Amino acid sequence: MVVLGAGPAGLVLGNILVDRGIDCVVLERAERAHVETRARAGFLAPETVRILDRHGLSEGLHRRGRLHGTCEFRTEDGRFRLDYSGLGQREQHTVYPQQELVTDLLARFLSRGGRIRFGTEAVAVRGADGERPEVAVREADGRPGAWRARYVAGCDGRHGAARRSLPAGAVRHHRDHGVTWLGLLAEAPTSLDAVGYAVHERGFAGHMARTSEVTRYYLQCERGTEADAWSDERIWDELDLRMRARDYGPLRRGRVAERSVVGLESDVLEPLRHGALFLVGDAAALISPSAAKGANLAVLGAELLARALTDDLTTGNSEGLDAYSARCLTHVWRAQEFSHWMIGLLHGPSGTDGESLFLNSLRRSRLTSLRTSLSRQNWFAEHYVGV
Ligand code: APR
Repeated sequence: MVVLGAGPAGLVLGNILVDRGIDCVVLERAERAHVETRARAGFLAPETVRILDRHGLSEGLHRRGRLHGTCEFRTEDGRFRLDYSGLGQREQHTVYPQQELVTDLLARFLSRGGRIRFGTEAVAVRGADGERPEVAVREADGRPGAWRARYVAGCDGRHGAARRSLPAGAVRHHRDHGVTWLGLLAEAPTSLDAVGYAVHERGFAGHMARTSEVTRYYLQCERGTEADAWSDERIWDELDLRMRARDYGPLRRGRVAERSVVGLESDVLEPLRHGALFLVGDAAALISPSAAKGANLAVLGAELLARALTDDLTTGNSEGLDAYSARCLTHVWRAQEFSHWMIGLLHGPSGTDGESLFLNSLRRSRLTSLRTSLSRQNWFAEHYVGV
C-alpha cells in the first residue's frame, strides 16, 4: 500500500493500516519539520474525535485541546450569540491546531513501525487500472524512482500527483464562490470566547481560536490582493471596524505572524476510486474554510478507506472498496451544501444592482431566521458540528 501525503488524511489512513498489520509506506514531498509546523485547520468535529479515539490517536487532543461551543454573529442588525453546544445533537468542537494533531499522528505512525519517506515527491500514478500500480517519484536527492503496491491512496491534497493521474472522464464539480479571504494568524489571545462572524458593508471578518497565544482571523478582501499588501496596523483597524469593536469592545492585538490569501472555491471529484487508486481528503474534494470541514472530512474519509482496504487485503472482501466512493461522497456533499449555505450567510455582493440587493436581502433574512428560529438554530448546530 502506498499513501501519498502526510496530512490528516494520509496519516490517519497510515496509522489504521499499520495498526492492522498492513504494510504501507507514506511518501511525503515536504520535510518532517515543515509538516509538523504547518498551521492549517484547528476545529475538530466530535465525529473526528470519536474516530481518533477509536484508533488510539487522540491522547494529545484530549490533553491540550479545548472544547468550543459558541458562535457570535455581529451584523448590521446587531449582535447575537448561538450556543450550539446546547442545540442540535448537543455537541462541541475540540479546538486543537492541525500541526499538533499531525505531529501526534506522525509520532504514533512511526512508533507503530510505519514507514514514511520525507522529501519524496510523487510525480504520477501509473497503471491504476492494473493489479500493481506504480508511483513515479522524485527522490529526496532528485533522482527519479518508483514504488509499486497493490493499492495507492491519494492523500496529497488539491495539487498532488493523484489528481494529476486521473483517467480521462473523471468528473470534477467546481464552484468559485467569488469571495477572497485574507487569512491571518495573530500572536494574540482570543478577543471573544466564541467563533466570531462579522458581516459588514465593507466585507466579512472572522475570528477563530487556535491556541491561548495565537488566534486565527479572516478578512474578506478584493480578488488579487497580495498577502503582504496590508500592514499590521491596517489589518487591526479593519478588523476593529468590521467586528464593531466600538460597540462590542476592542480586539486584543498582536503581531500578525502569518498571512495567506485564499479564494473561496469548492470542488468534488467523482468517482473517488479509479481502479487501484483512491482519493481522500483535499485530493478528493476541496471545501471552502467557511465551515471548518476540510480536516474533518479528511479524517472521516481516511477511516472509511482504511476499513475497506483492511477487509479486502485480509479477507478478500472488496465490498467496502466498491462502496467507498459513494459513501465518502455522501458526507462530502452534505458538508459542501452546508459550507455553501454558510458562504451565503456571511457574504453579500456590494453592488446596488437588483441582483446584489436581492442576494443581500436573502443574507439578512438568513441571519434573522438564524437569530429567531429555534428549529433553524437546531439545524445549524447539527450541520455546523457534524460531518
Ligand atoms: N507527493 C508527495 N506528497 C505531496 C505531494 C506530492 N506530489 N503533493 C502534496 N503532498 C503532501 C503535502 O505536502 C501535504 O503534506 O500531501 C499532504 C496533503 O495534506 P493536506 O493538504 O493537509 O491534505 P489532507 O490530508 O487531505 O487534509 C485536508 O486538512 O490541511 C487541512 O483544512 C485543510 O481541508 C484541508 C485538510
